[in-house]
Amino acid sequence: MRYESIPLAPGGEGYGGHAAAFRRNRLGTLSRLADATDPMQRLRPGLPIARACVAIDPDLVQEILVEKAKSFDKSDMLRFSLWNLAGEGLFTSNGELWRRQRKTMAPLFTPKALAAYASDMVACSVRTCATWKDGETITLAHETTRLTMGIAAKTLFDADTFSEADEIGEALTVALDWTGWVIGQPVALLHVVAKRLFDELATRGPAPTRRGAGAIAKKLTGPVVLAGARGKPFAEAIRFLDEHVQKMIDDRRSSTSTRHEDLLARLIEARDADSGEAMSDRQVRDEVLTLFVAGHETTATALAWTLYSACRTPGVLAQMHAEVDEVGDSPTLADLPRLGLCLRAFKEALRLYPPVYMFGRDATSDVTIGECRLPRRTNVMISPWAMHRSAAIYPDPERFDPDRFLPENEAKRHRYAYLPFGAGPRVCLGNHFAYMEAQLALAVLLRRFEFELMGDDEPEPSATLRPRYGIRMRVRRRTPA
Ligand code: HEM
Repeated sequence: MRYESIPLAPGGEGYGGHAAAFRRNRLGTLSRLADATDPMQRLRPGLPIARACVAIDPDLVQEILVEKAKSFDKSDMLRFSLWNLAGEGLFTSNGELWRRQRKTMAPLFTPKALAAYASDMVACSVRTCATWKDGETITLAHETTRLTMGIAAKTLFDADTFSEADEIGEALTVALDWTGWVIGQPVALLHVVAKRLFDELATRGPAPTRRGAGAIAKKLTGPVVLAGARGKPFAEAIRFLDEHVQKMIDDRRSSTSTRHEDLLARLIEARDADSGEAMSDRQVRDEVLTLFVAGHETTATALAWTLYSACRTPGVLAQMHAEVDEVGDSPTLADLPRLGLCLRAFKEALRLYPPVYMFGRDATSDVTIGECRLPRRTNVMISPWAMHRSAAIYPDPERFDPDRFLPENEAKRHRYAYLPFGAGPRVCLGNHFAYMEAQLALAVLLRRFEFELMGDDEPEPSATLRPRYGIRMRVRRRTPA
């Protein structure tokens, strides 16, 4: 089937097509896509020369993310929105640089390598609990963000206090807000289209213009100017992060007396398997910020949604309390197999509220997916939010039911029907980290406190799928049986 014959997705009828519809109502537009029956649908991206479609079928997802992964790159739009923050870090880079970095960094994230961080995860969770007063009402999403930020700061660069994490966290929040906002904005679309035109000129244009066009295309990877009420604070936040991270790298390189076991030290020590080369300062900076950004807010919102969903399902909450009581006050790595329900509840919350609710790829060559022939540069969108709420895959999809993740039930589903961490060669590098962090944090929090939900909340799609009102919870100190 030719690209032009792919059925048009619902919801993009008005001026500006689906890009405008996403700006108005991201989740509503995604839900309408999920309701349509065609596995691949064409989107109206709002600009005449851009092509885009959305795949909402596990078989097609398998083709795009796994079998034909080599025919796709991270999208120009994603790279634009994260350029100032994450540069050429692992999340945003493509091609040979990504392959090299993934090979170098994968050993740092195996369950064995991560074992060293279990006690930090427990300590940060205990420290978070210590700030809560019996009977007070907390904004849970703020608290889980502080918690995961503390863990990220400790495991990444050995920061022992919340204050250092807080400063960096504040700058990251400003930067992430801008990122969540800019995706799909006209200014971003214009950058992407202009970049593509110059890319074409650089590869296929007349020889004398190629070099200049290549340089302009590179410049257009990220925003050319940052101004206005949103742009200025974003630029300041990036400046702060740049200075701060560079100082940490400098301190590490100059100090030989103190030995650190954190990820920053491991990134600085890491060597390319083939060339034996170390990473440049800029690459270390991009990877540190990538890990901080990719790691903390995703896990924080997922943890908040787990407790929210459990509170709305009292039977599950009671079982989780019983499970963590069996483990006791100080969970360790060895207790993870005994925290099976905590893990399943976290997985189920990731199904209902996937922090990365949509992501995309750009085709690097003409490629056939299912029966559809996609021309080079077509943007293909995948939405965990839409897929995870398909009644055909998850009966009674709105119901919170951790048993969906019992091994026998998982085995019955298509492997690529569950995508909170993506799939294929670019699957999340930190998924073991996130699972371990969630299990240990839930074990500490639920052992010490009862949680009472003070009102309903709803997902707000920004850079991640945050709870709009932050989830208000009353916490009461427990005297475990
Ligand atoms: C619940 C928590 C998390 C969620 C839902 C999540 C989600 C994702 C998703 C969906 C992707 C793939 C995006 C795509 O294919 O375009 C991804 C990639 C990535 N994640 Fe996570 N993530 C989480 C936690 C973490 C943590 C804790 C870390 C690090 C400490 C991390 C580091 C990364 C990195 C480096 C990549 C890029 C991998 C590559 O392209 O090679 N993530 N994550």
